[in-house]
Amino acid sequence: MNFPRPVPSSPGPSSAPGLFVAFEGGDGAGKSTQARLLADALLADRREVLLTREPGGTQIGEKLRGLVLEHGHGEIDARTEALIFAAARAAHVAQAIRPALARGAVVITDRYIGSSIVYQGIARGLGARDVRGLNEWATEGLWPDLTVVLDVDEAEGRTRRTAGNTAEDRLESEPDAFHRSVREAFLDLASGPPDRYIVLDAGRPATELAAEIAERVRAVLPAGEVPA
Ligand code: TYD
Repeated sequence: MNFPRPVPSSPGPSSAPGLFVAFEGGDGAGKSTQARLLADALLADRREVLLTREPGGTQIGEKLRGLVLEHGHGEIDARTEALIFAAARAAHVAQAIRPALARGAVVITDRYIGSSIVYQGIARGLGARDVRGLNEWATEGLWPDLTVVLDVDEAEGRTRRTAGNTAEDRLESEPDAFHRSVREAFLDLASGPPDRYIVLDAGRPATELAAEIAERVRAVLPAGEVPA
């Protein structure tokens, strides 16, 4: 697959003093848990942390989240869906992520551009290149310093997210074939530059995953506040 990836020359957050980390992966991979555990670890190091999620992270972004994820808004075609995710992301970057990075914070987001490339570009068939271009425009080219992909197979993902009888949202309730293509596309994404992507088996114990992720992030953190 000719999968577009951020190229080294693409504008990124490197000029800002903070660090930008994104968690990606299929539904039920445990991203929210790992994002929170990483935030806890860095807060214990006395770092400033912004823990956030997509779609969401701003007032308008949370409203857009409701529109695109809840059932009951009638048909939402694939291009409209991609534009709603991109609009929420534009607000997120402009209002929350860039200001936090400029302050020197570590920004940890549960999903980012990779999710749009995978879900809208590949699984919905809009094309990875176009969706990437749309999102580079929306974010003025802001890519994460590090993307952690948690790999889960579609059957395990569905078992995990329906545990406790939680209702599936619009995207989650897509058939297994959709989630299979999501998984493959995330693995392809994670085969990008090794200093910018790590892929981990989501089935490993949560504490073990958290320790490995924290170690990796600490290794690339710019010098900041020294832990007491
Ligand atoms: P998520 O917040 O991970 O779900 P949960 O409510 O279980 O925490 O993600 C919501 C859904 O949105 C998920 O199925 C993936 C989808 N999504 C996209 O299709 N494109 C995107 O750009 C983003 C950010 C999410």
